[in-house]
Amino acid sequence: MSFQRKILITGGAGFIGSHVVRLFVNKYPQYLIVNLDKLTYAGNLENLKDVEHSSNYHFIKGDIVDESFVLKLFNEHRFDSVIHLAAESHVDRSIVSPTDFIFTNIVGTVNLLNAARKIWDKGNLSNNDLKSVEREKKNSVPYRFYHISTDEVYGSLNETGHFTESTPYDPRSPYSASKAAADHLVRAYAHTYKLPVVITNCSNNYGPYQFPEKLIPLAINNIKNNVPVPVYGKGENVRDWLWVEDHAAAIDLVFHEGRTGATYNIGGFNEWKNLDVIRLLCKIMDEKLGLEVGKSEQLITFVKDRAGHDMRYAIDSSKISKELGWKPSLTFEEGLSKTVDWYLANEEWLQHVTSGANHKYNQQQYHHRKQHVR
Ligand code: NAD
Ligand code: DAU
Repeated sequence: MSFQRKILITGGAGFIGSHVVRLFVNKYPQYLIVNLDKLTYAGNLENLKDVEHSSNYHFIKGDIVDESFVLKLFNEHRFDSVIHLAAESHVDRSIVSPTDFIFTNIVGTVNLLNAARKIWDKGNLSNNDLKSVEREKKNSVPYRFYHISTDEVYGSLNETGHFTESTPYDPRSPYSASKAAADHLVRAYAHTYKLPVVITNCSNNYGPYQFPEKLIPLAINNIKNNVPVPVYGKGENVRDWLWVEDHAAAIDLVFHEGRTGATYNIGGFNEWKNLDVIRLLCKIMDEKLGLEVGKSEQLITFVKDRAGHDMRYAIDSSKISKELGWKPSLTFEEGLSKTVDWYLANEEWLQHVTSGANHKYNQQQYHHRKQHVR
């Protein structure tokens, strides 16, 4: 079967990546979606069970840090576009061991940029490829390197203001510094080699399939198991939460309609203090588990703060709204309720991802912080 496009999605077995893969596989049967993922602790093929047999979906296990593997893959598959999500994504892990973040988030991104540059450079194209470039031009299918990034590259806000696309970069954790480096490299390749890139910087996502080390799924899992819910510091830090499927919809829009070379911020205009998020979750869990009112809140435990903890993130997403007509579809209360339903209905998934070494890591982190209660 011949496909209109051949898109490489990296990190497609992770949280956001799996929603993007699912959306593209189902919505665009005319595209071949190739999912490249190393399947680290955060990657899980169970996240994609419903699409794994689709004829326009193909999974490849591999590491973007492996330069020769990446080059070979591009030479073999001649992708016309890349949606790059693969990353080490957890801030706390980046504080404990930054090196993995440097390799995957920076070196891995450069390997993809180099491979794309090599096969998209007309001087390196075979006759067949040139024909397909002409065909693509006619069908107006451009090459595209789409880098998925984070609002954390902008640093931390005080009580007022929002991050816009022109806010200066000021990353403060090894994770955000590695993502900022990747963003700069993507833009440098656009400027120097005319690589057709687009970047989006998104706020905190939540929803099904998120690994339960991040605040919301961790809290749901802990309340479900009647164990303490750790709140860093005073719980006053603010995050801007977005339903993951709204992020995937934005990625679809930017991939197809975003201006080459542009950056778009994505966020929900949905700021919450961490403690308020946890309290709302406790209320929802009390209702759904049939517990007496206030029962889950008793699990809230204040623990040692994250080192260098960014105080507040808030995204101004008016550019993507005005230019491309994107807007979030759910209120936070609706999204959280759906998220809790999903975690309660997917006990087996939770069991799998919290067993073994990962579970041990999370427990160790908790006990370490607990010893240092503020
Ligand atoms: P995740 O940790 O859930 O998934 C990351 C995926 O990348 C996993 O499937 C993992 O196996 C894969 N991966 C890791 N290292 C790899 C390597 N060397 N080679 C190939 N695959 C590798 O992350 P997520 O939360 O889904 O985030 C996805 C992307 O979105 C990341 O780039 C992240 O920086 C960005 N982002 C995340 C959020 C958020 O709230 N989670 C917000 C904004 C941006
Ligand atoms: O803003 C986008 C970023 O959001 C993404 O780029 C990252 O990949 C993603 O992990 C997320 O980063 P955060 O550090 O904001 O997410 P996390 O869920 O780890 O923490 C959310 C807030 O909750 C943060 O202020 C720290 C706090 N926290 C977190 C955990 C895990 C707690 O109070 N207790 C916890 O146990």
